[in-house]
Amino acid sequence: MSERSKLLAGLGLLIVLVAGGLGYIFTRPAWTDAELVTLKTLWIGSLPPLEPDPSNQYGDDPAAVEFGKQLFFDTRFSSNGEVACGTCHLPEKGFQDGLPLAQGVGTTNRRAMPIAGTAYSPWMFWDGRKDSQWAQALGPLESAVEHGGSRTFYAHLIAEHYRAEYEAVFGELPDLSDRSRFPEVAGPVADESARAAWEAMSPADRETVNQIYANMGKAIAAYERQIMPTASRFDVYVQAALENDTQTMNATLTDEEVEGLRLFIGPANCTRCHNGPLFTDNSFHNTGVPAVESLPEDTGRAQGAQGVLADEFNCLSPYSDAEPKECAELNFMVAEGEELERAFKAPSLRNVTSRAPFMHAGQFTTLQTVLNHYNSAPASLAGHNELEPLNLNETQLNAIVAFLHTLNSEIAAP
Ligand code: HEC
Ligand code: HEC
Repeated sequence: MSERSKLLAGLGLLIVLVAGGLGYIFTRPAWTDAELVTLKTLWIGSLPPLEPDPSNQYGDDPAAVEFGKQLFFDTRFSSNGEVACGTCHLPEKGFQDGLPLAQGVGTTNRRAMPIAGTAYSPWMFWDGRKDSQWAQALGPLESAVEHGGSRTFYAHLIAEHYRAEYEAVFGELPDLSDRSRFPEVAGPVADESARAAWEAMSPADRETVNQIYANMGKAIAAYERQIMPTASRFDVYVQAALENDTQTMNATLTDEEVEGLRLFIGPANCTRCHNGPLFTDNSFHNTGVPAVESLPEDTGRAQGAQGVLADEFNCLSPYSDAEPKECAELNFMVAEGEELERAFKAPSLRNVTSRAPFMHAGQFTTLQTVLNHYNSAPASLAGHNELEPLNLNETQLNAIVAFLHTLNSEIAAP
């Protein structure tokens, strides 16, 4: 190499180093203390240990977990023998189904929700019409478009296939063998003949069946309680940031992902609703998501609030194991108001990029469409969209999408 080319090579190297250094300074500014505090709140390490559910005394019983898991995947618990919870909540798909509207015995009016982490949520469903995982499970079982079965039908199935498992957790199963007292198919919400058969039963026998039914939900909830997201790349990054370990930080997220994170917690203010270690405030918001025209009117939380107050299996019901004062969420919930109109539950954003389509009826097929929606914040067709337009440019919106990919992780399940 001549002196001249050595000089040029040296100069070239210098330029690369200086540019790299400047690039580093411009694209990777250190987080401020306030930002670090925010990042820590989003870190999975900040998730507190799961408190017992006072309404479900069996929630942490290992035998209930095992029994509940069997029920979750057992397709005999449906009118056509083909539908289980696991039909719409597939473990290999993050406990949802990847469809805009779920398919059971029929088609639902909303999209299936992922289950991971919902043990931390006080409200279930897009409209929060249930206040615990165990009460939630009792909905699809007797919904005509989901499992399509009835309460006595399920009680008989338990007696036939799960007597030992049931009795190990809940004690002796009542004798249901007299079909004139406990018809094959009877329940308050199934078809008309099932309803008539239910009405014809004595109140005490209905009570017996309801108790078994509630216990089924409590076993299923014991299983669901342990379905949790694990640490994602984002969490590795935050842990490194908290330890001031820039090497790991730089090796874990790209510049674009870091920029997306900066926007997410800053100018885009996504953390107003998607906050805490599960990226949800567990509350209901009107974000102007359009309706699907072919579906019946959906008022969201406005109907869900009335639903949970009226639910015969809510925290204050006789089937709940909680003291009334332990039902704080239900006791202090907002039951009316314009802000409930077309307000839907803010879902966790962990693993969100792997579960298109998005929103309560699968309205948006891509994350780009979701971000464009937030960017323009259209008026809501009912109630009031809480959001203002973001007016971000395309590079910034793409960066937020890139950041969302860092929230993917394995889901732990028993
Ligand atoms: C036909 C498909 C289907 C079946 C079967 C089904 N689900 Fe769902 N699941 C859905 C849909 C759709 C939603 C949202 C419905 C709504 O908001 O009205 C949902 C919501 C949920 C939620 C609420 C999660 C949250 O974040 O609020 C839980 C928990 C859940 N299902 C558990 C179960 C369990 C347990 C079973 C079995 C007993 C079950 N599901 C059976 C489709 C299904
Ligand atoms: C005012 C509260 C609020 C803010 C702020 C907010 N979201 Fe949401 N987000 C929601 C609600 C509520 C839903 C569900 C809406 C529906 O289905 O109708 C949702 C849904 C989503 C979904 C789809 C999740 C799924 O499983 O379908 C994504 C992705 C998302 N938000 C990302 C973001 C991003 C990124 C930002 C910041 C640009 C943001 N959100 C800001 C409340 C909010």
